Amino acid sequence: MEDAKVAVVGAGDMGHGIAELFAVSGYEVTLMDKFPQALEKARGRVSASLARLVERGRLTKEQADAAFGRMRFSGDMKSSVAEASLVVEAVPESKDLKKAVFRELDALAPSEAVLASNTSNIRISDLAAATSHPGRVVGMHFFNPPMVMKLVEVIPGERTDPAVTKRAMEISGKIGRTPVRVLRDTPGFIVNRINAADTLFFCLLLDKGVASPPEIDTYARGQGLPMGPYELIDFVGVDIGADSLAYFASALSPEYGKGVTFGRMAKEGRLGKKTGKGFYDWSSGRADIPTVEPTDKVSIMDIFALEINESVKLVEEGVATPEDIERGVVLGMNRPFGPITVAKDLSNAEVKSKLEELAAKFDCSIFAPTRAIAEGRMRDAVEGRLAPKPEPKAANVQPEGPRETGGDPVRLERLPGGVAKVIINRPRLNTLNAQVLDRLDAMVGELSGDPSVRAVVVTGEGPVFCAGADLSQFFSNSVAFMDFARKGAKTMKKIAEMPKLTIAVLKGYALGGGLELALSCDVRVATEDVEIGFPELSRGLVPAWSGSQRLAKLLGVSHAAFMILTSERIRGKRAYEIGLVNRVVESGDPDEFAVKYAAGLASSQAPVAVMLAKSLLNKGAEAAMDDGLEMEAMAAGILFATEDLKEGISAFLGKRKPEFKGK
Ligand SMILES: NC(=O)c1ccc[n+]([C@@H]2O[C@H](COP(=O)([O-])OP(=O)(O)OC[C@H]3O[C@@H](n4cnc5c(N)ncnc54)[C@H](O)[C@@H]3O)[C@@H](O)[C@H]2O)c1
Repeated sequence: MEDAKVAVVGAGDMGHGIAELFAVSGYEVTLMDKFPQALEKARGRVSASLARLVERGRLTKEQADAAFGRMRFSGDMKSSVAEASLVVEAVPESKDLKKAVFRELDALAPSEAVLASNTSNIRISDLAAATSHPGRVVGMHFFNPPMVMKLVEVIPGERTDPAVTKRAMEISGKIGRTPVRVLRDTPGFIVNRINAADTLFFCLLLDKGVASPPEIDTYARGQGLPMGPYELIDFVGVDIGADSLAYFASALSPEYGKGVTFGRMAKEGRLGKKTGKGFYDWSSGRADIPTVEPTDKVSIMDIFALEINESVKLVEEGVATPEDIERGVVLGMNRPFGPITVAKDLSNAEVKSKLEELAAKFDCSIFAPTRAIAEGRMRDAVEGRLAPKPEPKAANVQPEGPRETGGDPVRLERLPGGVAKVIINRPRLNTLNAQVLDRLDAMVGELSGDPSVRAVVVTGEGPVFCAGADLSQFFSNSVAFMDFARKGAKTMKKIAEMPKLTIAVLKGYALGGGLELALSCDVRVATEDVEIGFPELSRGLVPAWSGSQRLAKLLGVSHAAFMILTSERIRGKRAYEIGLVNRVVESGDPDEFAVKYAAGLASSQAPVAVMLAKSLLNKGAEAAMDDGLEMEAMAAGILFATEDLKEGISAFLGKRKPEFKGK
């Protein structure tokens, strides 16, 4: 059999079950664990499980013995993986630990072996970055218990070889599982991303004292659920819930860090079943749930709305199709139907107003209606009619280690009519790093001295302008961090003072450093749905490439304080209303619009006058009024001697278009 030799690393709850599943499916399996006691326990669990399968008539005694005979238990990594064509990593959910294991696997497993991770939440790209061949790393997320649960989420990282993803899908099918392909590597993938919003909600309910665990669990059981949410969290481990919220807070949004009760219980060692006490007493082996009246403060509609919201986010972000989200939730959470089915039975208005109520009540933006729902397009999203938009939070969650830049990070196109187009062209939503700043700096110098260029369009490759600075660049130490801030501010200043008309095209996302780049241009055109904002404070930063200064000067302190201090994002129309952008592109390609607009300005505005007016705006605005007025007068004096002034006036009088020469 192809891929006949499998190694499973980590013989705990998941690892022993995954290994058993492969063995029952005919594979030779080595189950490896660093701890001998864990291996012994796993051996006992596998043989007990096989015996149960025989008892229930699912396997004959011979089949069970043969499966057990195909298993080897080992404490040695090198020999365990030496001949494996597939390695499944199932060590505890710690990014550092998993990266160390992947580094080891990279060195010890055959070069053609597929390296899969069973991580619940961690981005595959982050684990792959620890290896020298990220192309062979893929996510294979099994569900607990693997022998029973039919779902495997298959997650390619950013650099996973498509052939490796295909193999992971095929292998999942061969072991009788239903693989669901996750299209974009994002924390928690499909099922656990949806779960995370529920977990946060159940934590916040306790933080705010809305109702007690027994009251909520009694209500949930009354709704037909086999277990209430707190009984389930106790069963799985309160620490697992707390850790996953902490991971989502660091990797997706700090809002996931808002809940406190679960973290506090984890610190106190009240982990649920495994420590005998969590929300309930488990000393009898089962949760001792006091008899209480069900709460009327929580409704099943809360959960429906939250899960629909997360599902629509996944569609918007291009993480998965509605069909796969439905399949994932049904198979991964053992539900009779999933959020997509529920959404088809509810109106957009109902879901939206429930989400608005929850977001306000818990002061939590995770619960706020996502864009499609806010815009009344829930049905389009769940029926597959919504084109996905790239994920903005990715800028916050950069893959680590060396990355390919995919060619020149800033491209220059010279277009007819005196227009140049500067295009940021970087993987991961055109984020800016030191290399981009250097290229921009050099390009601005080149264009500034080029009389054939009169207007410059600054844009991003693809549907996004720029999602901000590449944060993975500057967390090493404070001196490097400060230098990077200065470098960025210097480049922005150079762009602002460039003696040419500059037009930024805000589309997709214009966030953080991307917004600072846009603020350094003279004119901003924006699409209606662009998301504009300064997420810095929500990441423990401040805008440090001149954004705090420029925005306050441009809009006044009130709007600037709002945008910077709340990190709330605004869209194109709102940005237009407050004067942050100058034109909204309602339809068509925003780049084409900007280029046409630039060409119009390049021919209608006299170049020397542009240069002097920019200097007056940049420098004169800083000076005392009298000095500024004097600068104006001198500029007028300089212009008086230009040919363009004569041309401008005679064209005006002759009712014709001027032909400026820049002299
Ligand atoms: N438990 C679940 O419900 C569940 C479901 C899906 C995915 N997962 C994921 O599967 C992974 C494993 O979870 P689990 O619940 O089986 O954990 P676990 O703690 O039960 O098992 C982990 C095992 O890894 C072993 N181990 C630790 N360091 C090791 C190393 N360096 N080399 C080899 N073995 C090592 C431990 O001895 C332990 O036996 C995690 O990433 C988890 O998020 C868990």
